[in-house]
Amino acid sequence: MHNAVRFPDSFLWGAATSAYQIEGSPLADGAGPSIWQRFTHSPGLTANGETGDTACDHYRRWESDIAVMRELGLNAYRFSISWSRVLPNGTGTVNERGLDFYRRLVDGLLAVGIAPNVTLYHWDLPAALDDRGGWLNRDIADWFADYARVMFRALGDRVPMWATLNEPWVVTDGGYLHGVLAPGHRNLYEAPIATHNLMRAHGTAVQVYRAEAKRAIGLVVNLEPKYAASQRDEDVVATRLADAYMNRQYLDAACLGSYPDEMREIFGDAWPEWPAADMAVIKQPLDFIGVNYYTRDFVRNSGYTLAGLVGDAEAERDHRQQRGKLNDLGWEVYPEGLAQFLREYSRYKIPILITENGIPTQRDDDRWVFLFMHLWQVARAIADGVDCVGYLHWSLIDNFEWADGYKARFGLIEVDFETQERRIRPSAWRYAEIIRRNEL
Ligand code: FCB
Repeated sequence: MHNAVRFPDSFLWGAATSAYQIEGSPLADGAGPSIWQRFTHSPGLTANGETGDTACDHYRRWESDIAVMRELGLNAYRFSISWSRVLPNGTGTVNERGLDFYRRLVDGLLAVGIAPNVTLYHWDLPAALDDRGGWLNRDIADWFADYARVMFRALGDRVPMWATLNEPWVVTDGGYLHGVLAPGHRNLYEAPIATHNLMRAHGTAVQVYRAEAKRAIGLVVNLEPKYAASQRDEDVVATRLADAYMNRQYLDAACLGSYPDEMREIFGDAWPEWPAADMAVIKQPLDFIGVNYYTRDFVRNSGYTLAGLVGDAEAERDHRQQRGKLNDLGWEVYPEGLAQFLREYSRYKIPILITENGIPTQRDDDRWVFLFMHLWQVARAIADGVDCVGYLHWSLIDNFEWADGYKARFGLIEVDFETQERRIRPSAWRYAEIIRRNEL
């Protein structure tokens, strides 16, 4: 028997999802199309041509989904708003019917004691804004801030925690550099611009929040420890660059007001000098940092250029080095990295919320082991003095895993996508027990 490890009394226990991945009915009730609507309906871009047209049908089944969360005893639920449901053209007239969906959802959660944790942007840009240049257009900081203001005015009194963006690194790397995610561009020169406009949008929305509502707002990033595949100088250098590129690029900008020096080394002449006034907008006081943690990575420089490091990041994943078990998407299970990063990222002196952590697997026993081992690391980090305020598992429910479609099963709740039947997995019941006792 191990001694029980208790979590802080106010600890947030929950699960996470995002709009396009679960809602379905993407064009219902006056919603405009998003870039994911277009991406999934273009041939050959997602596994088996799968789309979010139906997904988990959560848009219609949200009440019974809340009932399941309640059964599991979650006290927090992270979801995202579909911008183009609320503003079909991205800017301008509000679609009240779209907004009503989120009003009902928030009220439904609050009624059963579940704190809504709302992400404003989880990758589903209104297509109408993509037509105007999307994240490459400087005006997007204002478009985003206007949308954020609509949401803060509608829900700011009821939502205790907001996040501006989910994983800006993935938006840029997947959407503008490698083209594997919407809007599917592959352009070294666009990537830094998309990054910078994402961060300007983040900063501008935080400023709006301070004027409109007074609870908590943060930024969600994905962090992945980078280890050198060998002690050869070029691998060590490549590792430092990979760490700056993925882990520090966004947090340094948001928390310190500067991008890591490595960005210029990585992008060369594709990395512009950014105006100091922009950096001042980007650096806003944050109430929390949301950390999404899945795996670690070994970095090897196989002789290509520095630009190649980001141009071909996947080739850097050296599986031979990975000792932990690989999950269904081929990512190593490496719980120790979570405590390590929680400690390292405490250096910004901002409370940390784990906004995603989970495993794509058909074997629910593996999910349970994964969950337990990661919570153990969270407990260790807290014991070491890290201010970690909660843990939200990815995901509440099996869902549409972007370009990988429906095959990757991340849910505490299993979904039969033929019938939309839900089944609570055994790992979820065990998680519920941890939540109930507030200890491991
Ligand atoms: C994260 C995303 C989330 C989900 C998980 C598996 O990068 O934020 O939507 O796809 O990965």
